[in-house]
Amino acid sequence: MAIERTLSILKPDALEKGAIGKIISRFEHAGLIPIAVRLQHLSTKEAEGFYAVHKDRPFFKDLVSFMTSGPVVLMCLEGENAVAKNRELMGATDPKKAAPGTIRADFAKSIDANTVHGSDSLENAKVEVSYFFRTTELFSYSHKK
Ligand code: CMP
Repeated sequence: MAIERTLSILKPDALEKGAIGKIISRFEHAGLIPIAVRLQHLSTKEAEGFYAVHKDRPFFKDLVSFMTSGPVVLMCLEGENAVAKNRELMGATDPKKAAPGTIRADFAKSIDANTVHGSDSLENAKVEVSYFFRTTELFSYSHKK
């Protein structure tokens, strides 16, 4: 399996629940290493640009409004099969459909306030990581067991 990088966002509801540590701990436990971490309050422009692919969807306005309602944690996660592994840990977009034990099943309230975002393909991961981080802000390291 290849070492990949993916973008993870802990959304405003994750921060309001005091769940930053619990969620990052799940990633670390699964071998997804945060190689860049930043707390940021997204502007409307930044959120609209990030979610531009959804701009014609009926939920776009609510999505941007929610993502700018409070600070988020932006992370680049690195590890084997990182894109798929992150999505497996997150669970389905709609928390009602998320498998038990996944982040969204355990923390999310609704499809809008669904606690985490993760890139959905390796190609998008590259675009999304570079949307928020410069190459010089990514610091690879390994877990020594
Ligand atoms: P996210 O992984 O951040 O990507 C786009 C977001 O739009 C998604 O999580 C949801 O929070 C939000 N969203 C709201 N309604 C829908 C929907 N019907 N389908 C997909 N995403 C939705």
